Amino acid sequence: LKLLSLAAILACGLSPLAHAAEGELVIGTEGAYPPFSMADANGNVTGFDADVGNAVCEKLQLKCRFVVQAFDGLIPALNAKRFDIIISGMSITDERQKQIDFSNSYAEFPNQFVAKKDSDLAAAKDFDTLKKDLSGLRVGVQSGTTHAAYVEKVMPDAQLMTYDTLDQMQIDLSSGRLDTSFADTSAQNDFLAKPEAADFQLVDVVIDSASDATLGKGLGIGIRKDEGDLKARINQALCDLGEDGTLKTASEKWFKL
Ligand code: ARG
Repeated sequence: LKLLSLAAILACGLSPLAHAAEGELVIGTEGAYPPFSMADANGNVTGFDADVGNAVCEKLQLKCRFVVQAFDGLIPALNAKRFDIIISGMSITDERQKQIDFSNSYAEFPNQFVAKKDSDLAAAKDFDTLKKDLSGLRVGVQSGTTHAAYVEKVMPDAQLMTYDTLDQMQIDLSSGRLDTSFADTSAQNDFLAKPEAADFQLVDVVIDSASDATLGKGLGIGIRKDEGDLKARINQALCDLGEDGTLKTASEKWFKL
């Protein structure tokens, strides 16, 4: 298999990627959001977002390097050029699009609350009951996320508690300092598989991105606004990865769906 030659790229009007000079694409990710992005002690990143990133780099014929950064600092760090793109389960939202651009969406996931088994909240079967039950409860979310924005806007009667990492939030949930948490269903399932989550369950009511604009329009790769050329290439790569089954394989591997 041969990708476009340099001559062909120039003929299409695309200049060679600036990043190609260094031969690598630097990707900012949280590294603490399983199963999207997990960093080990040596800084090696695995997970769905790592697979997507590595596959994009391969399509662009660039070496991948991951830089780990707290979630709510990813956008400022991208704009400060600490890395070239963000892949961190980040949803495409109007708020974020004021600061950065996004690729086309490469995946979309529902969101759910986790609650203690046998609690009123755990029994909620519809949105209105869920909302009523949340009133006065301590709801954990990761700071800077769409989940934080959603609960703040749509569930004003809940007591919002924000955490830098999901890990800290889960510790507070399992030790009773929180009544419930709100996150991507797949991140919640990752928690529920742990022994300390034995007394917890998903609340049935699924909150998909269509339910409110704060939840965004699917996950996108974050790109600086002045990088239109890189954005075009990444969109092309995502298109190819969708067609050749790579995205589906990665999703089956990490989400069993
Ligand atoms: N999709 C949600 C958002 O964009 C949650 C992302 C959390 N990602 C992470 N690496 N912690 O806000």
